Amino acid sequence: MAVLSNVDVPKIITDLPGPKAAALIARDEKYLSPSYTRDYPLVAARATGCKMEDVDGNLFLDLTAGIAVTATGHCHPQVVKAIQAQSEKLIHMSGTDFYYAPQTELAERLCRLMPGPGDKKIFFCNSGTEANEGAIKLARFYTGRTHLIGFYGAFHGRSCGSLSLTASKPVQKHGFLPLLPGVHHAPYPNPRRCPTGTTPEEFATQCVIWIQEQLFERVLPPKQVAAVVVEPIQGEGGYIVPPDNFLPELKALCEEHDILLILDEVQSGTGRTGKFFACEHSGVEPDIITMAKGIASGMPLGAVISRAEIMSWPPGAHASTFGGNPIACAAALATLDLVEQELMGNAAEQGAFLRQELLKLKQKYAFVIDVRGMGLMTAIEIVSSARDDESIALRNTIIQEAFKRGLLLLGCGKSAIRFSPALSIRKEEIEVAMSILNDICRELR
Ligand SMILES: Cc1ncc(COP(=O)(O)O)c(C=O)c1O
Repeated sequence: MAVLSNVDVPKIITDLPGPKAAALIARDEKYLSPSYTRDYPLVAARATGCKMEDVDGNLFLDLTAGIAVTATGHCHPQVVKAIQAQSEKLIHMSGTDFYYAPQTELAERLCRLMPGPGDKKIFFCNSGTEANEGAIKLARFYTGRTHLIGFYGAFHGRSCGSLSLTASKPVQKHGFLPLLPGVHHAPYPNPRRCPTGTTPEEFATQCVIWIQEQLFERVLPPKQVAAVVVEPIQGEGGYIVPPDNFLPELKALCEEHDILLILDEVQSGTGRTGKFFACEHSGVEPDIITMAKGIASGMPLGAVISRAEIMSWPPGAHASTFGGNPIACAAALATLDLVEQELMGNAAEQGAFLRQELLKLKQKYAFVIDVRGMGLMTAIEIVSSARDDESIALRNTIIQEAFKRGLLLLGCGKSAIRFSPALSIRKEEIEVAMSILNDICRELR
């Protein structure tokens, strides 16, 4: 298939969904699991950078990057080339049973990128939820302890261990309880939920003290806790950035009780916030980091990275047939080259521009009540009244309207809209997106 030409987006030429899209959706509905959360009828055909073409030839501007995945932009030529070249040499040999160079090379590079001194080790898998499953097992194995602490609002995945730590929406757990025993949740310092008379920093301190006083001194002996698992920026929970003192104070609490700190950088990693890992903004060095999503720019790959001493489990303790597949590793190596050379810097620069433009919307429209995030992990909160259902409905209308005009967006949290484009997004593309969004907000005002 020819590469999408450099025409301007968006360009909508049919009703949406168009005839081919509608036909495919009808077939899809008959066979695909209804648990998927399709917000609007986009039937993707091909894409490049931030441009997406559907099966009817409509062109969209994509600010979702397939939920923060295509870090280098869709089908970046260097990533495509790496995939093609690797697929001609070796598609699969199972890195858990045999050796091959792309996996070793990627391991070296990612281990070097994990913050903190000393050697690191890595375990490869296929997804974010698997990375968190691996981290949970590793923390239990290394510490000999079983309990875990997660945070309200967190999203760590949907397999049973990760789902136990997830505390984002009840629908994610309904019908699946009970899950892993020994999982406890603590308040996450969402600056918007800060009690009156308290600064966000004081609130962050209070959340850490809550763990000490309400868990450790009442219900959960800290010597039984293997790990605290936390997103440096909550993703699915609403792109919530905690105050700067939160992670350092949490790390100090963990150190006091010999508890491992696991940072879930599945969404915030791979340069999205302008640094390779979001935790680098706070200077905190975690014991374990989990990654997935953008790491291979669209190929399925996840990783658990830890201090070498922690990854001390014996052969057979944990493995994955497909994890660290040669093609996924080759795509990740190409992604790393691009992210380190230019895209991380672009994420910081364009993220600042995006934020500035979103703040203009906030000034103009009363229902845009918050702009938050870091780099290209940025969101706006839509609140139209004291009633949640009305705010959610307005947020959903904005996303639907954007789709009709050729702009692809996704929600997060209760009533927020997230902007998680490719790290390669250009200023002009953000300007187009903002102009569409501004028109929609003006009409809905
Ligand atoms: C922070 C975080 N952790 C874990 C996951 C789960 O990743 P996956 O869907 O690849 O299992 C996600 C997915 O959205 C995520 O945002």
